[in-house]
Amino acid sequence: MCGIVGYVGPRPSQDILLAGLARLEYRGYDSAGVAVIDGGGSLGMRKKAGKLAVLRDSLADAPLPDGSTGIGHTRWATHGGPTDGNAHPHLADDDKLAVIHNGIIENFSALREELLADGVVFRSETDTEVAAALLGRAYADNGGDLQLAFRSVVNRLEGAFTLLAMHEDHPGLVVGARRNSPLVIGLGEGENFLGSDVAAFIEYTRKALAIGQDQIVSITPDAVTVMDFAGTPVEPEPFDVSWDAAAAEKGGWSSFMAKEVAEQPEAVANTIRGRIKDGQVVIPELEGLDELFIGINRVIITACGTASYAALVGKYAIEQWARVAVDVELAHEFRYRDPVIGADTLVVSISQSGETMDTLMAVKYARERGARTLSICNTQGATIPRESDAVVYTHAGPEVAVASTKAFSAQITALLLLGLHMGRVRGAVADASVDVAELAALPEKIAKVLESEHEHVTQLAGWMADTRSVLFLGRHVGYPIALEGALKLKEISYIHAEGFAAGELKHGPIALIEPGQPVFVLVPSPRHSALVHSKVVSNIQEIRARGARVIVIAEEGDAAVLPFADEVIHIPLAGAMFEPLLAVVPLQIFAMALATAKGLDVDQPRNLAKSVTVE
Ligand code: G6P
Repeated sequence: MCGIVGYVGPRPSQDILLAGLARLEYRGYDSAGVAVIDGGGSLGMRKKAGKLAVLRDSLADAPLPDGSTGIGHTRWATHGGPTDGNAHPHLADDDKLAVIHNGIIENFSALREELLADGVVFRSETDTEVAAALLGRAYADNGGDLQLAFRSVVNRLEGAFTLLAMHEDHPGLVVGARRNSPLVIGLGEGENFLGSDVAAFIEYTRKALAIGQDQIVSITPDAVTVMDFAGTPVEPEPFDVSWDAAAAEKGGWSSFMAKEVAEQPEAVANTIRGRIKDGQVVIPELEGLDELFIGINRVIITACGTASYAALVGKYAIEQWARVAVDVELAHEFRYRDPVIGADTLVVSISQSGETMDTLMAVKYARERGARTLSICNTQGATIPRESDAVVYTHAGPEVAVASTKAFSAQITALLLLGLHMGRVRGAVADASVDVAELAALPEKIAKVLESEHEHVTQLAGWMADTRSVLFLGRHVGYPIALEGALKLKEISYIHAEGFAAGELKHGPIALIEPGQPVFVLVPSPRHSALVHSKVVSNIQEIRARGARVIVIAEEGDAAVLPFADEVIHIPLAGAMFEPLLAVVPLQIFAMALATAKGLDVDQPRNLAKSVTVE
């Protein structure tokens, strides 16, 4: 939510800022802006409502004088609509000082009142301009010492923020701070970078340093200094960036989403790699941490959005294999009630970005209450893993499209691994060899679905481009996939879609069925449970009888569903816990193809942002 980039070094900064913003645009695309201190020591700024392309065109038409110190921002609007005026950077001190911000400054109203009383005139409705004005005043009060002024300001702010600032009196210096919002440092040769994540500077360096909570950073071309909000120096932690710039490029695909859907076999294989030993799941990062899993009587998995549906699959798997009760809680609901948790609870958080504010707050809350915490995350150096007792990384590589696909598959994979690991540690699984073999076979089976069903599902979506509503039904682990199928469709095609537990149908949703209503039904294999299978087949008959158009996702060879289906999408045979990773693929393709047929931007759907760093 809002992307931030900062640069100091010998090169002209505008191209570096624009390239960084292009890679961060998934974080928000309501407006974009840059500020640069030019060779003559003057600060120039340009900002435009709309996607980054609008700013790019404006700079191409009327270039800003360039220089080698700059900051850039891409916005997801919170305070104030997506206008030029509310776009960042915001200026103060007679336009000599520029500030960009990600997050929400919760005490901004009181600060604004104080500044208004002081005669400050605001040009926007944002909380950010309040921080800029405060910094302008502090700069004068501190005799032009930008670092000191900046520290005094961040100590007055409440809420969540990453802030970057620069002043034309100090070319070659960018200062930054973070509280509950992301910021990382990129180390170059004679140049340094700041970014919301490593994507901001991955083209130039893979050497990165993490900045902790409530810390301030200053970068010059040759030095990086970090201190806490009290001014005590801190040694920033280096971390590895395991992917390179090419991994975050579209590479000939029509969209990032298309690329990421296709990358799922690799994402799953990379997440499994190194975690199977002698026919058992052994997660090296969890070695020596058995006490996390022994003596607990409850697991709570907390997450938001797509990650929360992965969590639901995890519930089934962990309960089955580790024999411990598992609840799934939306992170934003978990924190604002009074949950019964303590030292005998393991709270597992799932987050692709590792920065989702709701999830981060849930983790902090769980820790305060004495619970054990483990995170499943796709982003090295992110805040949520650093706030947790342990982390299991998914290795899906960078996910750029706002609608999550390969990260979802990698999250489910990590949960399956975790369930088997916990089962072994807790002595609940005697022989995991069949499940381990199922895991290892997943990448190839996902590749098979991609190959065999892509064209069929795309065609289906083309026929349904005018559909106004689609329903999704599933039972057991098919239920979370029904929810995810509906979410994907809502997110990128703006069609009304609902996912239901198939058994719940007759308790209300069946009233929605009218002739022609498309319904996707996820049919579990009869080999796992003839009973569950037969219940789903009955549900299909119930909706068929009322005129629904039934699109079935069933395993190859399931003849029982054929007489009742208008369309059948086949998936390969797999164990019960592994079917979700196959069944979700056609639903992702369907959403993508339908949005494309409607002429929509599948990578940057309206109103959404990939990384939601505000509550
Ligand atoms: C946003 C994104 C979703 C994502 C959710 C959780 O809502 O649009 O795609 O599933 O955040 O994100 P996380 O990074 O925590 O997995």
